[in-house]
Amino acid sequence: MSRFGEPQHDDFRALNDSIAYDRRLGPYDVEQSRAHAAMLASRGIITEAERDQLHAGLAQIAGELRDGSFPFSPADEDIHMAIERRLTEIAGTVGGKLHTARSRNDQVATDMAMFVRAHAQRAIERIESLAATLLAQAEAHLDWPLPGYTHLQRAQPVYLSHHLLAYVWMLVRDRRRFAAVLEASSWMPLGAGALAGVNFDTDRRLVARELGFSHVSPNSIDAVSNRDFVLDYLAAAGTCATHLSRLGAEVVLWSSEEFGFCEVSDAWASGSSIMPQKKNPDAAELLRAKAPRLVAHASALHGVLHALPLTYNKDLQEDKEHLFDAVDTLELSLAAAQGMLASITFRRERLAATANDEFLAATDIADLLVRRGMPFREAHGIVAGLVRSALRQGKALSALTEEELHAQSPLLDQEFYAVLRDGAWLESKVSEGGTSLGRVREQLERARTAIERR
Ligand code: ARG
Repeated sequence: MSRFGEPQHDDFRALNDSIAYDRRLGPYDVEQSRAHAAMLASRGIITEAERDQLHAGLAQIAGELRDGSFPFSPADEDIHMAIERRLTEIAGTVGGKLHTARSRNDQVATDMAMFVRAHAQRAIERIESLAATLLAQAEAHLDWPLPGYTHLQRAQPVYLSHHLLAYVWMLVRDRRRFAAVLEASSWMPLGAGALAGVNFDTDRRLVARELGFSHVSPNSIDAVSNRDFVLDYLAAAGTCATHLSRLGAEVVLWSSEEFGFCEVSDAWASGSSIMPQKKNPDAAELLRAKAPRLVAHASALHGVLHALPLTYNKDLQEDKEHLFDAVDTLELSLAAAQGMLASITFRRERLAATANDEFLAATDIADLLVRRGMPFREAHGIVAGLVRSALRQGKALSALTEEELHAQSPLLDQEFYAVLRDGAWLESKVSEGGTSLGRVREQLERARTAIERR
């Protein structure tokens, strides 16, 4: 019997059905149902024989979902209905007992929490693998100087290892965010029923243990309404993708002829359909472009949840496509970033030549004056004057004569030329977290420990 006197309109079905995308929750739905059936039997709500029939049917369904032979029917509205329908086909009317003491509202929230947990875990693994690649590249390019930039203007030289390690620290923070997602998804909604609890004395803790949840959600109303763990995943994914986007952007810039700092390997580049000489860093460009998509998913789900009255509303079905696309995009981006960076080549000569730009030592010359007692602000002005005069004459700073130096400040002597000598102004950055080799080595160790320790 049905409450309804006419069939659903085709356009309503197209709008309402979620089977096209929520089928990927299938394995989680089956696992959840197994645990639920076991609990029902342990509480005497169904018999052990019934539980065994349900388990046998669910095992068959798990296999069908795995090998792609699960017979979806055009009438299936969502994965939960499809699995129950199939279970009844396989096991007979006992299949209808599986939904005792359960609603699709707590069921779908539980599937989603399981899905988020699994993929937060996968994100953590991929972040660690990318970080390991960056650590290896930092170690391999420990003392390769290049210019550091502010405003995309050459500012002060740094070691390439130092620059690469900056991304490792971003990833350390990303991993922390995904660890928080693991916690947020460790509260089991199942057992909340439609919204108020169920009419049976169920054993929620047994189910939670079985499914690997650390806690049962303490409020049935919150349990079926809560999608914070999805928001948390999307937020963490958005931030992580933003880091990959900055990394991608630098690889794009650095592989241009103008910079010439690096070259991505052939496996991570494509050619032009018309210009045979070209090698395009498409992977890096796409990493750069994916971030806004992930951030948009986060903001879209905020929009869905905004002002939504408690408890379950069909609006909540809109959590899925945002999450699924975010998961696919992030996991692929992390893998691509890892592969691209593992095989990238840096150009030592070109990096060194640009890092030797003497103007990058301007701060160091100012500090020379500071060490001789001059206030920094005044020293800044004097060095600016030296730079201006060198630029006007079209010569390097080290080509300025001692007379010219004295004209700017009597405190400037031979020491000025020593400061300009190769490398000196990198090794002078001795403060903790700075770019001198000793400090970078120290940092590399800290980064390695941070990544290895969970
Ligand atoms: N497909 C639904 C969703 O994703 C499942 C829950 C349906 N619940 C309901 N009361 N209609 O949210």
